[in-house]
Amino acid sequence: MNRRQFLRDSALASASVALMGAVRFAAHAESALTDSRIEVLLDEPLGTISANIYGHFAENLSGVLYDGVWVGTGSKVPNVDGFRKDLIEQMRKIKAPVVRYPGGCFADSYDWQDGIGPPDQRPRRTNFWAGETSAKSPTSHSYDPNQVGTNEFVHFCRLIGAEPYLAANVRSLPPEAFYRWVEYCNSPAHSTTLADMRAKTGYAEPFHVRFWGVGNESWGCGGDFTPQEYAVEFRRYSSWLPSYGEHLSLVASGPADDDWNWTHDFFEEIVRKGAGQIERIYGLALHHYAWNLSRGRTQDWVAGKGDALQFEAIDWYELLKQGDQMETLVNGHWQSMEEFDHDHHVKLVVDEWGPWYRPGSEATPSDLLEQTPTLRDAVFSAMTLDTFNRHPEKIAMANCAQLINCLNSLYLAHEDQFVVTPVGHVFGMYAPHQGGQAVRTIFSSPSVHYDRDGKPASFWGLRGSASLRDKDLTLTAVNPHVSDARDTEIVVHGAAAKSGNITTLTHSDIHAHNTFQQREVVVPQTKALAVNGKALVLRLPPASVTSIQIQLV
Ligand code: AHR
Repeated sequence: MNRRQFLRDSALASASVALMGAVRFAAHAESALTDSRIEVLLDEPLGTISANIYGHFAENLSGVLYDGVWVGTGSKVPNVDGFRKDLIEQMRKIKAPVVRYPGGCFADSYDWQDGIGPPDQRPRRTNFWAGETSAKSPTSHSYDPNQVGTNEFVHFCRLIGAEPYLAANVRSLPPEAFYRWVEYCNSPAHSTTLADMRAKTGYAEPFHVRFWGVGNESWGCGGDFTPQEYAVEFRRYSSWLPSYGEHLSLVASGPADDDWNWTHDFFEEIVRKGAGQIERIYGLALHHYAWNLSRGRTQDWVAGKGDALQFEAIDWYELLKQGDQMETLVNGHWQSMEEFDHDHHVKLVVDEWGPWYRPGSEATPSDLLEQTPTLRDAVFSAMTLDTFNRHPEKIAMANCAQLINCLNSLYLAHEDQFVVTPVGHVFGMYAPHQGGQAVRTIFSSPSVHYDRDGKPASFWGLRGSASLRDKDLTLTAVNPHVSDARDTEIVVHGAAAKSGNITTLTHSDIHAHNTFQQREVVVPQTKALAVNGKALVLRLPPASVTSIQIQLV
């Protein structure tokens, strides 16, 4: 579409809106100057956005748990019962709904029994990631002191107001360990020996843990199973679990990226024992990392990676493109599940997602898999959350990998230093979507065109999502263009607007990021919107994330 065509289409669309009597608070005279358009269709609900798609992931991996989340009760770092105070405050602010723990790959080598009882009597164990940590890493990163165990993690979740999502060990512990962990967490006060052990350490009442992962990446670090083998294990691990009146929500280890075979073969084997087996599954995990910035030169996991901080515009688009595959993956796996799960009892749980760069940008150099998120990662994260919002009927939960000091971190911390990354700010801007009613929204904008090693390549020009809670409309949008603003006309069909505000996250430098020294380089800016009049035309800056809150009459 060229500019002329777009303007003609906009004019026609505006005329038809007026004719239908829809309430419109969009540009009139200014529309000739716009190049983009967003139409929110309040009468076309898509489903309720599960708050849990705004979930987190905190693995016992290098600086995530020890230093990031836990500083210890005797620490000089401000803490609440040993947990970093800054982190608690920030997570409350963004209304963190759920946290996945203890892994990741770590989960399939973890024995939960090492993390209960008096902390000073707990064993030290070799961490799954010990072989990868640097000589300069603190000992706790290689040899797990088990100071954070089940009690402590559940306590942390309570401090931030989130639900725990625990991943059970399928690779190296038997099903008994799984159901005993459930018993430890959920059996009523004084009912079992494990409930008494829990009470002895200060927690008489059950934890009511609902979400349980049955292994992690069972196709790889979680046991190197085939999908058929894993399905057999899943049936065994889920054959009997004590429920104590709790509806346990079991998440099966699912595919990475576009491994359609995993999804198909797993379900095919599950139903071999009858279609009823499907009812045991709450969600199928899906993992998708954007990591290959080699532009097709290699599929090598190490060689294909790009840098978190040093990149060109082309790397920006290439990364977004890989992240944008999420939509195809959600639709594709959903379709594949339908063959066996006709009523879609099982939902998708995207419990690991985000960009993954090569080492080199760590805020704390000895932290494994730590990277410094930039504006690019904020745009990536916003785009991903918008994708989830657009599929509320399919996605029950998602967990950004990871919460702090690892990959797509919302926060970076080391000792008494703490900073909110641009990704953390996106979670704050998008929080009003949680539990909202997603409504269909049409985004029209010229595509981005770029040169990909001599060949033309393109990416969409403007996308986002919208949701409604009572009379509050939240509209979020991403302008991925590194240099062009989008002059956007916004039309809401189905209601009039009373007031509103707009929050923008952007920077003139696409590499911009926050550091311990400069903590406010990329921060959201909010201002009131004059929506009382009939016109709403907004300039969405290049490389930006926008969240618009509109109160409807
Ligand atoms: O998030 C880091 C690692 O990536 C997780 O431990 C694993 O599940 C995935 O491969």
